[in-house]
Amino acid sequence: MAQPGDFAYTVKTSVDIVRVVGEYVRLKRQSGSRYLGLCPFNQEKTPSFNVNGQYQSYHCFGCGVHGDVFKFVMEMDHLTFPEAVRSIAEKNGIAVPKRISPDADPQARLRAQIFELHERAADFFRQSLESAEGGAARQYLKKRGLAPEIVKEFGLGYAPGGGQALLRALGSIPEDVAAQSSLVGRREDGSGSYDYFRNRLMFPIQNEAGKIVAFGARALRDEDQPKYLNSRESPIYRKSRVLYNWHRAKETMRKQGMVVLVEGYMDAIGVYAAGVPNVVASCGTSLTLEHVKNIAPMVKTVVVNYDPDSAGVKATERSLETLLEEKLEARVLSLPGGLDPDEYVKANGAPAYREMLEQAPPFFDYLISRAPAMFDLSQPKGKSDAAHYLLGYVSKLPDRIVRVEMAARLADRLGLDRDLLGKEMRAAAADRRDVSRAAATGITHGPVPHVQRTLLRCMVANAEARQQYLAPLVALLGATPALAEIAIRPVLDALAAMASPDSGVDPAAPVDVPALQDRLLPPQQQILAVALNDDSIEDLSAAQVLGYVQELARRPLQARVEELRRMIRQAEQSGEVTSALTMLQEKKDLERKLSSDYLLGPTS
Ligand code: UTP
Ligand code: MN
Repeated sequence: MAQPGDFAYTVKTSVDIVRVVGEYVRLKRQSGSRYLGLCPFNQEKTPSFNVNGQYQSYHCFGCGVHGDVFKFVMEMDHLTFPEAVRSIAEKNGIAVPKRISPDADPQARLRAQIFELHERAADFFRQSLESAEGGAARQYLKKRGLAPEIVKEFGLGYAPGGGQALLRALGSIPEDVAAQSSLVGRREDGSGSYDYFRNRLMFPIQNEAGKIVAFGARALRDEDQPKYLNSRESPIYRKSRVLYNWHRAKETMRKQGMVVLVEGYMDAIGVYAAGVPNVVASCGTSLTLEHVKNIAPMVKTVVVNYDPDSAGVKATERSLETLLEEKLEARVLSLPGGLDPDEYVKANGAPAYREMLEQAPPFFDYLISRAPAMFDLSQPKGKSDAAHYLLGYVSKLPDRIVRVEMAARLADRLGLDRDLLGKEMRAAAADRRDVSRAAATGITHGPVPHVQRTLLRCMVANAEARQQYLAPLVALLGATPALAEIAIRPVLDALAAMASPDSGVDPAAPVDVPALQDRLLPPQQQILAVALNDDSIEDLSAAQVLGYVQELARRPLQARVEELRRMIRQAEQSGEVTSALTMLQEKKDLERKLSSDYLLGPTS
């Protein structure tokens, strides 16, 4: 992959993986340059995602994903390798040489063209909003109370109504690019192309890097339907993944460990303008598991603040299920007076909204408070229905103590027997556990002995030890049947192969850990990652490493000596003199070997 002289190499050596990953995942420093967080690639409650600054690598002990900074960004942002290199370079102020432009990969080229098209369209919409024909749209924005700075910050624009305004402004667009973006459409009768968005207020939708990937478009007149028209999916836009305002929200999200979830573009903007930047909205779809997985590594708490109408209530329930599934602490803000967040801020002011937000109750209180309106709690059947409805949520909670507590509160509220409800809940929780256990793909293996872990760690970390003792160690393991099966052997073999003189790798250079990982099977990747991330392992000098190698070499000999001692005693007792003598000789030879300093080299 990245070789000295490559642009990728330059990028890799000038950024720190800890900082890059830290953009996406909340990381806690463990020791030295080792950081730990919740894995963004699986749903976990206890962090097992290790990022190691020393090796510029990451490894998740939960799901086994691992790699370098490029692989991380490729997988997080769904990019190709050249795109990831570019993206990291751009975000870190590293000048990208022209020749790196995404030309080789046709898919990347198409995406780059669609990106550019969106950028140019957004420019055009912004200009149109400023121009004479944007008068009505400006009027509308004013009526809705959007300050000019906010209009600017969100890049709002206006799509004129003519039908071909954007088309003309863009000039000729390659057929495939036009076909794959929903900015322009082709008339079915073949009579040419037209603008997809006409006479609408335009909300650019940006991805996590802040690049425009789609638009949401609001009608300005009631008779224009639908009220909101959204871009179709394209090679740069997946609705189930993108959240509106994400890139502006993420820093505060991570800092506060909290995000507000709203339904609409105007809501997101209104809440943002009210001094709560950590707000996101899904765009014309309901909240998906993928959305939540994007949020989950960065926050602890999600406040759902949807419209209080019946559609909003339904959407709230569905979102809660998804959020709880991902082990997030969910709160629900249901604003009084039937107002959506945007309307509430406008009617009552930013401080009032922020206060409501502070006081947003835990999801469970919200659900309980709705029960009397949903069920006839004066009837046993109504009570039972309410209990089952609410237990469905309680059983999703990750903490058993909290679950029991919630069930007890629920029982009290509904006037039901606590024990009975507890039993019901355990049944529901057991169902859930069976499912998640089956889904878990954790790799299990016995613990690797400390000597082996230390050796492996030092062979990777210490170039001198590696140059002097890796080859002899590998030879020793190959020549000693008792050592052939030790857990770290495949890793050492791969390391030796990578470091061999004809591999062209500078033996004194740091080991490319992600490349080494790629040579290994998952259980061994795990072993390597444990060795590299275990704080209880000391980093030894080359001389100490030799001591460990000898220690390892001694073990089977010592074991054999012990065995011989027993067998000799038995042979003597049963009068088998000849075999006792033979064994005695072997034992003497071994003891001589054990007392010599140097055990490496052929052991027989
Ligand atoms: P709302 O109708 O609640 O919109 O739809 P809103 O944000 O309050 O809009 P204003 O205040 O009337 O301008 C919420 C979200 O649902 C999607 C949009 O993403 C919108 O922001 N939606 C709504 C559509 O996709 N199409 C529609 O026709 C209506
Ligand atoms: Mn609204």
